[in-house]
Amino acid sequence: MTEMAPKLRAALDGIPTYRPGRPPAADGPRSYKLSSNENPYPPLPGVLEAAAAAAGAFNRYPDMACSALVEELASRFDVPVTHLATGTGSVGVAQQLLQSTAGPGDEVVYAWRSFEAYPIITQISGATSVRVPLTADEVHDLDAMADAVTDRTRLVFVCNPNNPTGTAVRRAELERFLDRVPGDVLVVLDEAYREFVRDEEVPDGIELYRDRPNVCVLRTFSKAYGLAGLRVGFAVAHEPVAAALRKTAVPFGVSQIAQDAAVASLRSEAALLERVDSLVGERERVVRELTAQGWTVPGTQANFVWLRLGERTADFAAACEAAGVTVRPFAGEGVRVTVGEAAANDLFLQTAQTFRKDL
Ligand SMILES: Cc1ncc(COP(=O)(O)O)c(C=O)c1O
Repeated sequence: MTEMAPKLRAALDGIPTYRPGRPPAADGPRSYKLSSNENPYPPLPGVLEAAAAAAGAFNRYPDMACSALVEELASRFDVPVTHLATGTGSVGVAQQLLQSTAGPGDEVVYAWRSFEAYPIITQISGATSVRVPLTADEVHDLDAMADAVTDRTRLVFVCNPNNPTGTAVRRAELERFLDRVPGDVLVVLDEAYREFVRDEEVPDGIELYRDRPNVCVLRTFSKAYGLAGLRVGFAVAHEPVAAALRKTAVPFGVSQIAQDAAVASLRSEAALLERVDSLVGERERVVRELTAQGWTVPGTQANFVWLRLGERTADFAAACEAAGVTVRPFAGEGVRVTVGEAAANDLFLQTAQTFRKDL
């Protein structure tokens, strides 16, 4: 054996590992996972049956074009099928977007803190991240982001609502931003949490994309639709962006189980969205009670809340863990807590109150 090792791309050096939300402890009293912004409800019966039926044929490759899903989405959103591209979760589609647009010497602009996959997939592409701090209110600073666009910029992520702060940008400011970004720079509106938005001033990206060829909208079945474990997301974009996404997709990446479950979810949308409504109700309750306890909670349009705890972050996360609630700490910054079922939220609120009294 020699000491030599295969040469790997230098671009991979120092890439932070994606940290998934921790699962709750396997033993001990009941504990809740509020660390990954998942839907707490089990699959709807129709969706489970569709997935189970597809599972009976997994000796076969899936439909590589995701035809049934793409057709369902096209009619659901009133967009041409050629404007749709699917992937292994919306993070998979985001990676395809980078592969399609950026490489060494190019720049990718995004807010910070925002979705932690952005720096990872940018670095893998070889491009350079340009991070623009959120405002003091934890919102995207769209003017500063537009100022950060240079002739090296290839892609800008706008995470709306933003993970992990839950804050959302509104129509007028987003349109002003889009008007400032040159047409040869792709703007990706990451709307993973769109179904939880209740502020009518927060625009639906699919409306903004229609007459803007440089806007791409990312959506997922992982959050409101409750299919996180099946890995399916999609983009809505004009040609040639959508075509580039189809070229860069992992062949057969989206399983037939995921495709059929996604179609069944779209067809069971009323029942699913009722569950989303109840989560939004819980979100309002969590925000109200935290505020009453004295916490500062940024306005959230997503299925999670953000507490900027600074140096107390690790202590707070440990207190939650001890109480049976797993949250998502960002060391030295804050904690993101998913809105779950009422019992989980109750436990979290009790823990927050006790912690607050001890502050
Ligand atoms: C803003 C945002 N975009 C995309 C994703 C990726 O979700 P998925 O790959 O499951 O579709 C997440 C997941 O946490 C997210 O928070």
